[in-house]
Amino acid sequence: MISLSNFDSADGSFATDNDFLAEVILGLSGAVKSLPCKYFYDEVGSKLFDSICESPEYYPTRTELKLMKDVAPEIANAIGSNVDLIEYGSGASKKIRYVLDALEMPASYVAVDISRNFLMKASRSVAQDYPGIAVHAVCADFTKPFDLPKGLGIRSRRSVGYFPGSTIGNFTRPEAKEFLKACVETLGPGGGMLVGVDLKKDPMTLEAAYNDAAGVTKAFNLNILSHINRELSGNFDLQSFGHVAFYNKELGRIEMHLESFKKQSVTVSGIEFCFGPGERIHTESSYKYDIDEFQTLALSAGFVPSKVWTDSNKLFSVHFLQI
Ligand code: TRP
Repeated sequence: MISLSNFDSADGSFATDNDFLAEVILGLSGAVKSLPCKYFYDEVGSKLFDSICESPEYYPTRTELKLMKDVAPEIANAIGSNVDLIEYGSGASKKIRYVLDALEMPASYVAVDISRNFLMKASRSVAQDYPGIAVHAVCADFTKPFDLPKGLGIRSRRSVGYFPGSTIGNFTRPEAKEFLKACVETLGPGGGMLVGVDLKKDPMTLEAAYNDAAGVTKAFNLNILSHINRELSGNFDLQSFGHVAFYNKELGRIEMHLESFKKQSVTVSGIEFCFGPGERIHTESSYKYDIDEFQTLALSAGFVPSKVWTDSNKLFSVHFLQI
C-alpha cells in the first residue's frame, strides 16, 4: 500500500446497482431494445476497451495521441498556467500525461470515472509520476451532475475540462449539447475545455474501426451482457448474440448492436425478456462531426470555440473551447 500526500479520492454520484437494474429493465422493455453504453465499463470492459485502442483498425486513439504530442506546446499555450484540469472519463489516464508534461505547473488534476478500481490505479500512478500536482479521483457517472473536490480553485486561476477519445460522440447531439452546457456550469467563467472529436470520413475506414479482425470490439460489446449476468443475476447466453457495427450516414454515426441469433428468452434478476431471431439491442452510437458542425454545437452550449487542431489526414480533431 502506498500513501501519497498529493492524492485523494471521493465518491460522486455514481450509478448504484439499483440504477443499473432499472436502466437495464427500461432499455430491454422498449419496442426497440437498447442498453446504456456506460455499462460497458466494468473492470473487464475497461481492459477490453484499452485493447480496442491498440488494435490496428481503431485509428482514433493512435491519431489523437500523436496529435496531442505534436501540438502539446500549442495546447499548453491555450490552456495557460496554474489551472485545475478535470478529466471526464479518465480511463487509464494516458492522454492527460501529454497535457501535464507540456503545461506550466498545473495546480491539480481531477480524474473522474465510473470504473472504481481502474480509476484508483490510474490516478495513483499519475500522483506518483507528478508529485508536484494535487491529484483527485472522483468515482462518478459524469453524465450526471457531480461534486468537484473541495478546495479546488484555491491554488488555481481557472478550471479546464478535458474530454478526450471522442467520448462526446457517444452522446446524441442533444445530449452532447446538454453535457457541454453542464460543463460550462461546472467549469465557470474564464474556464476552458479541451475536447477530442472524431471526424466524418469515408465509411470503410469508420466501419473497420468498429469491426477489428481480432474481435476485441465484439468481445467488448458482448461484455455488457456478461456484466449484466455477473451483477444483476442475468442468464444471457453469449454464444447466442452477435456483434453488429455499421455507419449510418443519414445520422452521421456508427451504431453498435448485439443481434440475437435465434428466438430466445433471457432473465435478469428474475424478469423475463424475449428476443426474436435477428432482433437487436442497440448498445452504442458514436457520432462523427465535421469541424464547423462541432463548433456550432459548442457555441450553442455557451462555449466560444477558440482553437482546433487536426492530424494531416484529417481523421481526428482536438478543440479548445473557452467560456
Ligand atoms: N468514444 C470512442 C468511440 O466512439 C470510443 C468507444 C466507446 C468505442 N465505445 C466504443 C470504440 C466501442 C469501439 C467500440 O469511438
